[in-house]
Amino acid sequence: MKHKPNYSTSDIKDWLKHFAESECKGNAELYYKLCFEISKDDELTKIASYTKVGQPMPNIFLGAVHYLLMKNPQEELSKYYPTISQVENNSEIPIDVFKNFCQKYEQEIIDIISSKIVQTNVVNRCSYLFPIISYLVKKENKPTTILDIGTSAGLTLNFDNYEYWLNNKKVYGNGTVKIKSEIKEGKIENIEPIVVKLTKIGIDQNIITPFDIEEKLWLKALVWTDHKERFDIMDKALDSKEIEQIIFKNGSSVQDFTNIITEISKEENLIIYSTHTLYQFNQEEKNQFYKMLDELGEKRDFYFISAESIKTQLEKYKTKNTVVELTTFKNQKKKEELIAETNGHGNWVSWKQIYFANTSPIND
Ligand SMILES: C[S@@+](CC[C@H](N)C(=O)[O-])C[C@H]1O[C@@H](n2cnc3c(N)ncnc32)[C@H](O)[C@@H]1O
Repeated sequence: MKHKPNYSTSDIKDWLKHFAESECKGNAELYYKLCFEISKDDELTKIASYTKVGQPMPNIFLGAVHYLLMKNPQEELSKYYPTISQVENNSEIPIDVFKNFCQKYEQEIIDIISSKIVQTNVVNRCSYLFPIISYLVKKENKPTTILDIGTSAGLTLNFDNYEYWLNNKKVYGNGTVKIKSEIKEGKIENIEPIVVKLTKIGIDQNIITPFDIEEKLWLKALVWTDHKERFDIMDKALDSKEIEQIIFKNGSSVQDFTNIITEISKEENLIIYSTHTLYQFNQEEKNQFYKMLDELGEKRDFYFISAESIKTQLEKYKTKNTVVELTTFKNQKKKEELIAETNGHGNWVSWKQIYFANTSPIND
C-alpha cells in the first residue's frame, strides 16, 4: 500500500524532543537519549513522519522498531535492547546501529506506523485505579459494574487479582503480577478487598486478545525497552485466567458506548473509567463523549474516573502531571474532583483527596 507523510520533519523533531523531556526524562534513559539522537537525523525523522494522524508518534515509531526487532532478534540492534537481549547497565542505543536497522526495515516501519494504533496496556495504572474503585465500591456497598472505555487487552480491569506494593510495603493480594508504586503525597496502608458482586466490561475499538500472537507482540513492543520489568509483567498479566471473567465489547463511538451503558441496571453501582484513551479522540469526539456522560447523569447515578494528560485537564488543574479526576453524578448533580496526580505509568501517585488514603471519612 502507498503511504504518505503526515507531518513535516521539523514537527517530528520538536515532538521527539518534547517527548524525551516530558515523558522519558528520569523514567527511561535509553529512550530519552535515543529520541534526541533521532531528532537530529533528517532521514529518521522523515520515516517517522508517516505516523498515522491522531497517534502519538514517538510511541508508535519506537514501538514499530521494537516490534520488528523482536521478530528479527539476530539484528545487531537487539544487543542494545534490554527487553530482547536481557542486557543490563546499557547506557545508550547507538544511533548509527539504530539508523542502519531503520533503513533496512524502512518499508515495514512505514507500513506499521501508518496503519497500527497505540494500544499500550499499562497494568501499573492499577496503582491508583484500584484504591479509588475499592473505595467507591465500599461506599455504595451494592453490586457494581465497572466499565473500562479504551480497555485494550483489559489488563487494568483485572485490578483485584494483582499484588500491590506501595512505598515498598505490601498492601494487598498475592500473585505473580506485582504493582509497585511510590506514594508521594497521602498514605495508603491497605486496599480493602471487594466483597460485592462485580461485573467487568471492557470496550475498545480493537480488543486485544491474549491468544493472538501478533497482537500480543504489538502490545509488548509498545512497552519501552528501558522498562524490562513492565515488559515481563505484561506476559504474566496476559496469562492471568481471570481475564476470562471480563466481558469484552467492541465499540468506538459515543452511540456504541451509550448502547452498552443503557443495558446496565440502574439498581447497580456503576463506575465508568477511561485511562489514557481520550487523548486519541479528536476535539469533537471528546465533546460528544463528555456530553454523553452529562446526559447519562440526568438518567442515573454513576462515577467516572479519568486519567489523562490532555491539555484541557492539565490546564484545568494547573499541572504537568497526568490528572486523575473523579466525576460523581448523583441525584442529577455533577461534582468533579482532582483525586490524584501521577505519571503516565502509575509509578508514583500524589493523592489530592485524603479520604482515598484511609485517613478521613468522605464529606458528601
Ligand atoms: C493508549 S491505550 C490505553 C489502554 C488502557 N486504557 C490503559 O490505560 O492501559 C488507548 C486505547 O484506547 C482505545 N481507543 C482509542 N479511541 C477509541 C475509541 N474511539 N473507541 C474505543 N476505544 C478507543 C485504543 O484502541 C487503545 O486500546
